[in-house]
Amino acid sequence: MTYLINGQSFTSEPRPGQCLRTFLRELGWHGVKKGCDAGDCGACTVLIDGEPVHSCLIPAHRADRHEITTIEGLAGDENAHAMQRAFLDAQAFQCGFCTPGMILTCASLNQAQRADLTNALKGNLCRCTGYRAIEDALLNRKEVETDGAGDAFGRSLAAPAATKVVRGQAPYTFDTAIDGLCHIKLLRSPHAHARIRAIDKSEALAVPGVLDVLTWEDAPERRFTTGTHEFTRDDALDTRVLDTVVRFIGQRVAAVIAETEAAAEQGCRKLRVDYEVLPAVIDPRQAVLPGAPTVHDATTPGILNAAHNILAEVRYHLGDVDAGFAASDVVYENTFTTQRVQHAHLETHGGLAWIDDAGRVNVRSSTQTPFLTRKLLCQIFDLPDDKMRVVCARLGGGFGGKQEMLVEDILTLAVLRTDRPVKLEFTREEQFIGATTRHPMRVRVKAGARRDGTLTALQLDVLSNTGAYGNHGPEVLYHACGESIAVYNCLNKKVDGIAVYTHTVPSGAFRGFGLPQTTFAVEAVIDELARGIGMTPMEFRRRNIVRPGDPMTSPGSEHSDVIYGSYGLDQCLDLIETAMSDSRNESYTLAPDWLTGEGVALTMIDTVPPFGHFADVRISLRADGYFDLVVGTVEFGNGTSTVHRQIAASALMVPVDTIRLLQSDTDHGGHDTGAYGSAGTFVAGRATQLAAEALRDDILRFAAGLTKMSVEACRLDAGHVVCGSRRLTLKDIATAAHAQGKVFSGHGHATGSPRSISFNVQGFRVAVHPGTGQVRILKSVQAADAGRIANPMQCRGQIEGGVAQGIGAALYEEVIIDDQGRVVNPKFRDYHVPSFADLPRTEVLFAQTSDSVGPLGAKSMSESPYNPVAAALGNAIADATGIRFCDLPFKPDRLHPALAEKFGQASLER
Ligand code: FES
Repeated sequence: MTYLINGQSFTSEPRPGQCLRTFLRELGWHGVKKGCDAGDCGACTVLIDGEPVHSCLIPAHRADRHEITTIEGLAGDENAHAMQRAFLDAQAFQCGFCTPGMILTCASLNQAQRADLTNALKGNLCRCTGYRAIEDALLNRKEVETDGAGDAFGRSLAAPAATKVVRGQAPYTFDTAIDGLCHIKLLRSPHAHARIRAIDKSEALAVPGVLDVLTWEDAPERRFTTGTHEFTRDDALDTRVLDTVVRFIGQRVAAVIAETEAAAEQGCRKLRVDYEVLPAVIDPRQAVLPGAPTVHDATTPGILNAAHNILAEVRYHLGDVDAGFAASDVVYENTFTTQRVQHAHLETHGGLAWIDDAGRVNVRSSTQTPFLTRKLLCQIFDLPDDKMRVVCARLGGGFGGKQEMLVEDILTLAVLRTDRPVKLEFTREEQFIGATTRHPMRVRVKAGARRDGTLTALQLDVLSNTGAYGNHGPEVLYHACGESIAVYNCLNKKVDGIAVYTHTVPSGAFRGFGLPQTTFAVEAVIDELARGIGMTPMEFRRRNIVRPGDPMTSPGSEHSDVIYGSYGLDQCLDLIETAMSDSRNESYTLAPDWLTGEGVALTMIDTVPPFGHFADVRISLRADGYFDLVVGTVEFGNGTSTVHRQIAASALMVPVDTIRLLQSDTDHGGHDTGAYGSAGTFVAGRATQLAAEALRDDILRFAAGLTKMSVEACRLDAGHVVCGSRRLTLKDIATAAHAQGKVFSGHGHATGSPRSISFNVQGFRVAVHPGTGQVRILKSVQAADAGRIANPMQCRGQIEGGVAQGIGAALYEEVIIDDQGRVVNPKFRDYHVPSFADLPRTEVLFAQTSDSVGPLGAKSMSESPYNPVAAALGNAIADATGIRFCDLPFKPDRLHPALAEKFGQASLER
């Protein structure tokens, strides 16, 4: 068959049934991305004869003799297509995984389609941006600034990979060719709880192309947790690479390694597994009752109470809550539930592994924690550090989901067994049934207040469902019970929380790490108390929030290293109050029967997780006057690669383009705990600052010796070293040093302690239809205290993306599990990741603060924008309807019964 691909004629025979996406990727057009296999996400968009299509849905043979354009060919002979330039100017991406497909779709729109983006963009999902930046690209808005030497920090500079991202050349995990690559497919459990009596491999091994089948008999005995943490003292070691017991539907049972994916899949179908099906418990409330089936046995290290399926608990009291309730004029109590939410990063979990010429295992995977993953793999497989390398290419999103080792252990086992390069890539369905979700929680809150607005008692009872495994369960529970109550002054507080095992898909780390769930409940109760005493919710919050000097009391606060490095919560509240009141005269096209209301919610977050988060950074001056900056942290759309260069460039008084970034490769040395907990700027950025300052001092000392001046008389200035009246280029200095055998380098080490605090306040104006339960967002505004803003454009993007994910989780998203423990909606189209049409533009405002702990005054702002969203929406809906809805998500069918009861049948007929 003859194809015209990006202007070149090409003859090839696709495999029977091969889709165009896979066909193009195998030809090396890696700008065609794989996000699903169902035409839902648009990451695989290409143009056929100028029309955008989802290439995963098109059989490759159907494109015979048609003109195919991938992102690599969009510009033709030009340097860049106008739409690629527009995406660059607006920096309309974060992880960039959706970007090639999005650009191709946008580039194909006519004027009428551009006027109707809700329809025009419905086939392309973006999980990161919230779509505002994409719309701005279509409006030709320019956000990017340029820097001069020394003023990089604080400017909206482009991401270093920007040009490659819009051209489809940024290499993600699988965008590389490896000769002789084998494929792994996983057989997954059909049972929520079963013991594997035996696995007959014979038929599978007889499938042509199948090389090996791995089962529990081939796996190391060592138990571990898939959640990666610097210290694992709180973790239950409840997981094996392959186990004799399966504890959720979707757990891996066996791995088939084959020459092709098709053979590996066929091998899985031919495996005969003899299961002894065991009773299962799906509901966490049932799991703690006497006689409930147990998920793990008592010999498993790290479980608090295996007999009652209790993984961990938090118990805390301050003062006397009963006395606090007795002293209050108003008490409000309610129970709130939050659902399972999937990360839905467009790049699924996956990786490659091979053994290099030195006999080392190399794993290239989509992980947020390459260094901890290497450490864990070395422990499991009894390998020394120098026999294992983990490297990340660019990640197509993570949001905490890739702080989890879900493929690297199987890859390592397979490569050690076969000595062949291997690949394992989750399908979208596997992502839903075999990866992790947000911890569903039931949060009971009781609180009391006096009429003067004093919060007298605050009590939390939390039941967190960790699913079948305990990865992150204790830490998420602990965090959930932390800042959500620490942000309020109250003399009487009590917390009882447990994390409970069930025979369901495991929960895991997810943006916000437990705080969104409890914030949803606490902020609702704060609103209700305010109403109960006749005070505005804003005023009630102002009276009770912590301010510098106040103790921040919550579980563990007695030993906390959290300080008021800066404080901008008061500013955030003011900004939101002003923005909401200034917009009250805005007009909306609404029928008169819609009910409208406003709501706010606030959150505080410690700038990094407790107990240490470490980063080692090195920077060196090369002989050509340019710099090599080596950082361990990963870029997955969070923008840290941009910020690290800005920090270093500012310290060294040079333009960012003089700094080459090498990152997320354990071979580069140093150590980084990982790109999670918003640590990329606050911890790794601090290490970068220290490294750059050490290098600066090293250069100045050398220059002083060279010019026979004092160090104090020397300074860096615009790519030069100025010593008295002499002005030397950095290249001159580097050349002189290299001639003497000297290499300039600086090292920075950051521990993530002490920690500071960041704040977010979200405001919404909504309309609710009393007859249908439909919710429309009329106004969305978020104020953030992120200290000095390293890159306003990127920080705004992080906030917009966090709000977008928060809106999705508040209104639509839910991983639904039936009473057998089966995920019933493992597809994007049934899960409802928000599309362009679902999201409002969010106005972003910044408090003016500068942090005493963070690098150059910056604080973290990656997770926290998500945290107040559901709470603020719940408060706005309550304001509109007079009904407190306590269960997420706020789907119309959930709201409808209470609305119908309150507003009557008449509302249905309106
Ligand atoms: Fe769109 Fe990440 S930038 S999915």
